[in-house]
Amino acid sequence: MGRKGTETFFQNMWTARRMSALLIYFVLCIFLCACHAKSGQTEGEGKGAGEGIQENNQGNSSQEESGGKQREPSGNGISEAPVFDLENGTVMLNSGYEMPILGIGTFRLSGSEAENSVYWALRDGYRLIDTARIYGNEADVGRGIQRAIDEGIVTREEVFVTTKMWTDDFDNGAEAIEASLKKLGLDYIDLMILHHSQPSNDVDAYHAMEQAVSEGKLRSIGLSNYYTSEDFDRLVNAASTVPALLQNETHPYHQSVEMKEHLQQYGTVMESWFPLGGRGNTQTLFNDETISGIAQAHGKTSAQVILRWHLQAGNIAIPGSSNEDHIQENFEIFDFELTDDEMQEMTALDRNERFADY
Ligand SMILES: NC(=O)c1ccc[n+]([C@@H]2O[C@H](COP(=O)([O-])OP(=O)(O)OC[C@H]3O[C@@H](n4cnc5c(N)ncnc54)[C@H](OP(=O)(O)O)[C@@H]3O)[C@@H](O)[C@H]2O)c1
Repeated sequence: MGRKGTETFFQNMWTARRMSALLIYFVLCIFLCACHAKSGQTEGEGKGAGEGIQENNQGNSSQEESGGKQREPSGNGISEAPVFDLENGTVMLNSGYEMPILGIGTFRLSGSEAENSVYWALRDGYRLIDTARIYGNEADVGRGIQRAIDEGIVTREEVFVTTKMWTDDFDNGAEAIEASLKKLGLDYIDLMILHHSQPSNDVDAYHAMEQAVSEGKLRSIGLSNYYTSEDFDRLVNAASTVPALLQNETHPYHQSVEMKEHLQQYGTVMESWFPLGGRGNTQTLFNDETISGIAQAHGKTSAQVILRWHLQAGNIAIPGSSNEDHIQENFEIFDFELTDDEMQEMTALDRNERFADY
């Protein structure tokens, strides 16, 4: 190789090295950019979640400041499990309304029995009343509420009234809502739920409830007796409003664990009917050795232990009673707490066994 050839060789080498260096530089740049973008994204996600929490806190604090009971509804697609406030005995629904977690049920109570039970309950501190069109006692329940209001025990705003739309009324939802309002003697209902799943027309009935929410006749809406996630999702997918609540048979022998897990993604809360097992079955639960043992340890009754378990397990409970003493007893569950071990013992009682056959 002559001198010129050597020079050309070295020039080519130099160019090749520069090219390689440039190539490595570019690869490095791309790599660094990619890393930065990824870390930025992670930061963004973290920040988003943090902001979400902040927004919620702000929502709560403004609610506290205003002394109101409402915050902005979360809307569809929310994914927070409702958190029970065991001090105040309330839960914030995904509709933005606060709901008491312990109430009185009125199934099989009619006439003065229903009126008195509701009145006694309000006098004892309850603020949640559960009725239904099919119980035939909405007017009696309304009278019990009015009596407590007239005596200055509560204001309308302090009482949370739930009623249910019966399956026969699903084709005429708007009329059914008007009828319940009239019988209860109220100008709005805090929560209306469809009494049973009925695939042929429950979506229409649900749409009627959504419409009534927009008209201020109902505040929150929900479902009852949907026992599979598929059935629940069938309704949810056809609706614009996520149900605030699902009321199903739930007690220590039927703890509704899978359904509650399914509800979490919607921020829908579980409410227990037959919280004590229902009429004719209560002794089975009251005499259960685990339950009566825990009751003895706390100086409480089995009924109180079961009800306290419901609240700590995240179930709203609405024990039914026409007995003045029982009504009072069932509300005295905010002065004790089940330990983690006791909660585990209660969890172990689940047999996935319902008492009712509907
Ligand atoms: N969505 C639905 O399909 C559906 C179905 C059923 C019920 N529900 C709702 O859920 C509510 C609760 O269910 P439920 O009333 O049928 O059954 P429950 O509350 O499980 O049990 C009611 C029975 O418990 C007794 N009881 C209550 N407190 C007691 C205590 N401290 N000591 C001893 N016994 C006590 C009552 O008798 P006393 O009257 O003597 O106290 C009554 O016999 C109903 O009232 C209704 O509002 C909804």
